[in-house]
Amino acid sequence: MINTKININEAINFGANELKNITKRARYESEILLSGAIKKDKIYIILNNSYFISESETEIFKNYIFRRKNGEPIEYIIEKVSFYSMNFYISKGALIPRPESEILVDLAFELLKNKKNANILEIGVGSGAVSIAVAIKLQNSKIVAIDISRDALKIAHKNIKIFNLEDRIELIESNLFENIKNINFDLIISNPPYISLNEKGKLQRELDFEPDEALYGGEVGDEVLKKIIETWFLRNETLLLCEMGYDQKENIINLINNRAKIEFFKDLAGFDRGFILKKIFNI
Ligand SMILES: C[S@@+](CC[C@H](N)C(=O)[O-])C[C@H]1O[C@@H](n2cnc3c(N)ncnc32)[C@H](O)[C@@H]1O
Repeated sequence: MINTKININEAINFGANELKNITKRARYESEILLSGAIKKDKIYIILNNSYFISESETEIFKNYIFRRKNGEPIEYIIEKVSFYSMNFYISKGALIPRPESEILVDLAFELLKNKKNANILEIGVGSGAVSIAVAIKLQNSKIVAIDISRDALKIAHKNIKIFNLEDRIELIESNLFENIKNINFDLIISNPPYISLNEKGKLQRELDFEPDEALYGGEVGDEVLKKIIETWFLRNETLLLCEMGYDQKENIINLINNRAKIEFFKDLAGFDRGFILKKIFNI
């Protein structure tokens, strides 16, 4: 244990040793946690590894290491997550945005890049990362971003303020489309919860720290996704862009039943990860 004053290098070694049984990147994580604990970036840590850290910083670092050993995701501990090469605030009330969801941002941009002043709806805004990245890429767009979780909305609000996008992204507390019935959008985006409740407790320990309503879509997993699709059919919007589980393609095809044009996309690991739905209009 650390009991006297230690320097940066010793602290990193201590953390790496403590974490070696729970992660393959123990040293890297120890550096990140130390960087968070002493509020300095990684370059400072590398350049000044013989500098001593204060006793209070040591206590904070030890606590971070303890939390990480207990399975808590590193992003919740340091309250920071990188998404689309930008840093966002994150804490336990919202899902940690995943790299695969960056595809939603690229596809939204492709779909709307020629549309001036696009109006977009995001269902399940979480931390706000997707809406914020889309707003930054599509410069004159306006986004309505909804979530059922008040905690997630608070985190999204904080991020929207950090990125100075309060006049472009409106947050609404809503169960799916409940409070946005009378608005029309050029595109609806969603990364809904899509894991089966049967998986709860069987997946990586880190997921236990994330909100259930952000992960689990119901007994099968695709229930929220299906509700979004069925409601979209009843509304005026032409385009729907969604993330989904790698094994949900068949169910989605059956649900659509040729009522709309569907294009699936894969994530970087090659798994089916989502789809774009376009309404077919009979002239
Ligand atoms: C998988 S997370 C996605 C968060 C964020 N968009 C991202 O990609 O990081 C799903 C989000 O949908 C929200 N959600 C779940 N059920 C909902 C519902 N019925 N109505 C609105 N939002 C819902 C959750 O609270 C959560 O924030």
